[in-house]
Amino acid sequence: MSKDSNSLRMEKIVSLCKRRGFVFQSSEIYGGLNGFWDYGPLGVELKRNLKNFWWRRVVREHDDIVGLDGSIIMNRAVWKASGHEETFSDPMVDCRSCQTRHRADQLPEKDGASYCPNCNSRDLTPPRAFNLMFKSFAGPVENDENLVYLRPETAQAIFVQFKNVLDTSRQKIPFGIAQIGKAFRNEINPRNFIFRSREFEQMEVEYFCKEQDGLTILEKWLEERLRFYEDIGIPRSKIHVHEIPDGERAFYSKKTYDLEYEFPFGVQELEGIAYRTDYDLTQHARASGKPLDYFEEETKQRFIPHVIEPSAGVDRTTLALLCEAFDEETVTDHSGKSEVRTLLRFHPRMAPIKCGIFPLLKNKPELVSKAKEIASSLRGQLAVFYDETGAIGRRYRRQDEVGTPFGVTIDFDTIGENGPSLQDTVTLRHRDSMKQERIAIAELKSFLLQAVD
Ligand code: GAP
Repeated sequence: MSKDSNSLRMEKIVSLCKRRGFVFQSSEIYGGLNGFWDYGPLGVELKRNLKNFWWRRVVREHDDIVGLDGSIIMNRAVWKASGHEETFSDPMVDCRSCQTRHRADQLPEKDGASYCPNCNSRDLTPPRAFNLMFKSFAGPVENDENLVYLRPETAQAIFVQFKNVLDTSRQKIPFGIAQIGKAFRNEINPRNFIFRSREFEQMEVEYFCKEQDGLTILEKWLEERLRFYEDIGIPRSKIHVHEIPDGERAFYSKKTYDLEYEFPFGVQELEGIAYRTDYDLTQHARASGKPLDYFEEETKQRFIPHVIEPSAGVDRTTLALLCEAFDEETVTDHSGKSEVRTLLRFHPRMAPIKCGIFPLLKNKPELVSKAKEIASSLRGQLAVFYDETGAIGRRYRRQDEVGTPFGVTIDFDTIGENGPSLQDTVTLRHRDSMKQERIAIAELKSFLLQAVD
């Protein structure tokens, strides 16, 4: 696909997200705020489905992984010990011509020299480190003693609670602690919609193991994470596994993979899987003076566990789901008229709405009451959308555009007006193929629950 068609595709996705209630600009009525987004009714369902499935895969399906929900603001000492206060920065340059600020490592170049992406000037300051952590104060006094940071990653809460979780969960090495939560980074240039924002969510695991098992466990996590993306509808062929070469990895990491997705704006990082050695626990043990080692009963050995960390972005994965699902196809109706059908081909388990429920006609009380009865019997276990307005074809299209995998139409056969053989059956329409079949109302719920599981 050409650059133009890729940016047009991205524009269409962003526009659909706004039009149909997936993502809005934060504080939009006041002109927005760069790098902040709100998820609308459908976006919040999509994101919830993603987080729930991650939790199920990572925590519920593993008896060696437990959860944590740490606070966003922690003692400043955490960020000193982790190295964030000193080094969590991006190189920043100022453009002397138009006074804009940019990330030095993301500047466009021409003839070997960088230039300002805003005004094309080459009059740029030398790069300097800009710390990405948002600052605030805990308590009423705004002084250095009360300075706190909004966490830039969820991981550190896991490291500093390692001992408490170990002591209370009766886990043994190897085991993991998982967390989903907000993180904040004062990105110099937020961009590409929800891809790089200043407030986002992470889904992270810190998996603690013996040093000799670290590299093998890293490979297992790589495979597991690739399977996860496949199971939410992102094929392996679209995920690039990039091993970070020596010299580019964090100094404490023995091996790191980035999983990158083919976004319309380029192949970009979705998740990092890092072998962080014993760096974090060692740092926190040293700085806090509290032992964070592990005693192995069988061997009577005491050691600081090594850590494998799969760290994924909720917002980036949500964007990847939207990009992967977005499609336009030309369809022709029975009268020979062609039109473009816009649809989101979400995997049913990710789709915000699982099933549209449509009475064929809204002025037929028997159809309406039967449709409402079916909708309420599904609601609670399944996100359904009841719609009685407009021609049935239009109603199908509206659900296609938000990625609803199934549509159920309640018609005259359902209420037995054409004889008993089809009574209490409905038309089930499949979004992707547009094929329709008859299904008994009694079987509908179990069919849908199975399809979206
Ligand atoms: N604990 C390790 C860690 O935080 P990271 O590579 O900096 O590693 C992990 O972040 C993931 O968090 C990224 O792969 C990405 O999905 C997401 N992420 C990082 N910065 C982001 C941002 N500014 N906006 C949206 N997602 C971001």
